[in-house]
Amino acid sequence: MNDSKIKVAVVTGGAHGIGRALCRRLAKDGVTVVVVDIDEAAAATVASEIDGIARAVDVGDNQAVAALVEEVERAHGPIDMFISNAGVGFGDGASGAISAEGGLNPVDDRWEPSWRINVMAHVYAARAMVPRMLERGGGHLVNTASAAGLLSQIGDSAYSATKHAAVAFAESLAIEYGEAGIVVSVVCPQAVATRMIGIEDDSDSMEGGFRGNDVDGIMKPEAVADIIVEQALGGHFLILTHPEVATYVQRKASDHDRWIKGMQRFRNRLLS
Ligand SMILES: NC(=O)c1ccc[n+]([C@@H]2O[C@H](COP(=O)([O-])OP(=O)(O)OC[C@H]3O[C@@H](n4cnc5c(N)ncnc54)[C@H](O)[C@@H]3O)[C@@H](O)[C@H]2O)c1
Repeated sequence: MNDSKIKVAVVTGGAHGIGRALCRRLAKDGVTVVVVDIDEAAAATVASEIDGIARAVDVGDNQAVAALVEEVERAHGPIDMFISNAGVGFGDGASGAISAEGGLNPVDDRWEPSWRINVMAHVYAARAMVPRMLERGGGHLVNTASAAGLLSQIGDSAYSATKHAAVAFAESLAIEYGEAGIVVSVVCPQAVATRMIGIEDDSDSMEGGFRGNDVDGIMKPEAVADIIVEQALGGHFLILTHPEVATYVQRKASDHDRWIKGMQRFRNRLLS
């Protein structure tokens, strides 16, 4: 049952993984869901399953995101919740953190899409949504970052840096517009059983994880989606699906030098 005021929601990266689970959860609550993804066929499959609407959009394209918002609001009414969930991670590769697969390849080949999709997509969504939400007196912006945005993803410097930027951008939005009624939430999970960590959609397998991101266990996307929706509707800013992350953040804040040393030991253990 949907006892919130959410009638229309957009979920980016809605064709797979956490986004797909969010689409299903919101549809179950009676919300009209717009499934946005670069994977057009999979977005259409999810939309038909939940009686939603599929849109093939590259969320890293400012014009395309603006056009999407315009078109959805004209056809279906105000977007009450925009979930910027699409994200990418590539790993540093053999050359390590200095170059994110620099070596002989162009240094930007992994940094550029990481910035565009993990950070700028959130900026483009906010740019399109904030003026509309301010005019209406409120709305929900939910941005999926990662525990890597608070701590670090060993072996993926571009992912860690851009997810930190995503957390910082969400903080700015909340500080700037929270009192005007826009509820901003930022989601910071550890491992979730999706293709991002090598687990196919609808697989029962929990075998996956890489470079230590599964240290506190792998969660199912459905459980993660329930936490996200409930916490966002409850007005929470920081959504931690893995509670251990709060302790790690406190340890990092209380002694950053010690935390780096601990992470170095953890990295060595993973490599040995
Ligand atoms: N799975 C994890 O362990 C984990 C942990 C922390 C954070 N996250 C974050 O959760 C979010 C969802 O990831 P997931 O785990 O469900 O992975 P996933 O790969 O299953 O889903 C990501 C979705 O984003 C879509 N996408 C990628 N680039 C896009 C673009 N330019 N435009 C539109 N759609 C695009 C993909 O097609 C895919 O459907 C990401 O932001 C990811 O960084 C995942």
